[in-house]
Amino acid sequence: MSAPKKLFIKTYGCQMNVYDSERMAEALGGQGYVETKSADDADMILLNTCHIREKAAEKVYSELGRFKGLKAEKPDLKIGVAGCVAQAEGEEIMRRQPLVDLVVGPQSYHRLPEMESKAREGQKVLDTDFPEEDKFEKLKNRPKAKRGPTAFLTVQEGCDKFCAFCVVPYTRGAEVSRPVARIIGEAQELVERGVREITLLGQNVNAYHGEGPNGADWTLAQLIWELDKIDGLERIRFTTSHPNDMMDDLIEAHGSCKKLMPYLHLPVQAGSDRILKRMNRSHTAESYIRLIERIRAARPDILISGDFIVGFPEETEEDFQATLDLIEEVKYGTAYSFKYSTRPGTPAAERAQVEAAVADERLQRLQALLSRQQREVQDSMVGREVGVLFEKAGRLPGQMVGKSDYLHAVHVADCDRAIGDLARVRIVSSGPNSLAGELI
Ligand code: 5AD
Ligand code: SF4
Repeated sequence: MSAPKKLFIKTYGCQMNVYDSERMAEALGGQGYVETKSADDADMILLNTCHIREKAAEKVYSELGRFKGLKAEKPDLKIGVAGCVAQAEGEEIMRRQPLVDLVVGPQSYHRLPEMESKAREGQKVLDTDFPEEDKFEKLKNRPKAKRGPTAFLTVQEGCDKFCAFCVVPYTRGAEVSRPVARIIGEAQELVERGVREITLLGQNVNAYHGEGPNGADWTLAQLIWELDKIDGLERIRFTTSHPNDMMDDLIEAHGSCKKLMPYLHLPVQAGSDRILKRMNRSHTAESYIRLIERIRAARPDILISGDFIVGFPEETEEDFQATLDLIEEVKYGTAYSFKYSTRPGTPAAERAQVEAAVADERLQRLQALLSRQQREVQDSMVGREVGVLFEKAGRLPGQMVGKSDYLHAVHVADCDRAIGDLARVRIVSSGPNSLAGELI
């Protein structure tokens, strides 16, 4: 038998790319590949790319440039680009960077083994179709190795919302939900392999409407209740949600489903109704705040997380102030904030842009407020009892590190628990990026 070929995958961007990279590694496992952590000894390098902001896309080209020497040394090395940059700029990548042998869009991963064989024969291969078949079903054939206690599981992909700044509807395509039975099957298998916490993924995960066992479409809440029945699965999370798809049954599940964790990522993007309208967000600041109130009525301790864009075209100081006001009102436990980045082909790209220095300054003010809130929420955990799922050993002897129900990293000293154990922990102090706790 020949030695296994080595595969190096570098993943950029969102959690869905992390999930996709795992699936690609498994698919290429069938071609005799094993994963390596170093590009230097790889027989194949795959960059799983992100196109959401300009910087993310530019990184790909600079990274590819760095492989030039490696490819000169190892002519048999194959280099592939996957993910959303591949989808959006496939042909341009091939033109701009002759090192690239293979370009595969996010909807074509199940064709990777075939593409790899063609690349081995010296062909340049590009596949950025949106085929009808379920790629995850085709990717099922994979080794069932033991794995860590947390996993992602894609349940919905694509987006029909067309926010004026966003490339996702173009790169990931229209909204598609996977059938309930397939998701439950995959979740059961993950649990058999040691997983205790599953994060359901979708660009618009709360718009989930997959085919249920009875043939009718199920909501995300129905899917969560079905997952709730799986013995050994202890925690359920989901991301990312849109305010307009936050249905009553999902809010209610946050109040009554014990396995559903008290954490919700619910991006608002901006606090000015004028800007929200220009963003094509179809909700207002007021409707968002009322929604948060309803969610907190169902689950008072829920930690709210968000995404913000500053410097969206035509944003005035007054508009920006409205975003700060909304943040003050909601009080976020964590948040991700970005300076608007022009994406060619999206409606907002055509509009009057905010000066870079102004946007930079606003981003700093916004981030200062968000980190203050994040700190306050984290500090408020001190003295409380939380669940912690241990994920790894800490740096100090006897120390274990895990995530709380609220997704805070928690360090526990003198901890006799194993990776994958779930324990009750009392939080004793709050540091810059994590909490410290003791077993109860
Ligand atoms: N510029 C800046 N941020 C963006 N996002 C999406 N598109 C852009 C863009 N063109 C942000 C949004 C989204 C998150 C994933 O990325 O806040 O929720
Ligand atoms: Fe992009 Fe999210 Fe808006 Fe869809 S809902 S267009 S993924 S920002």
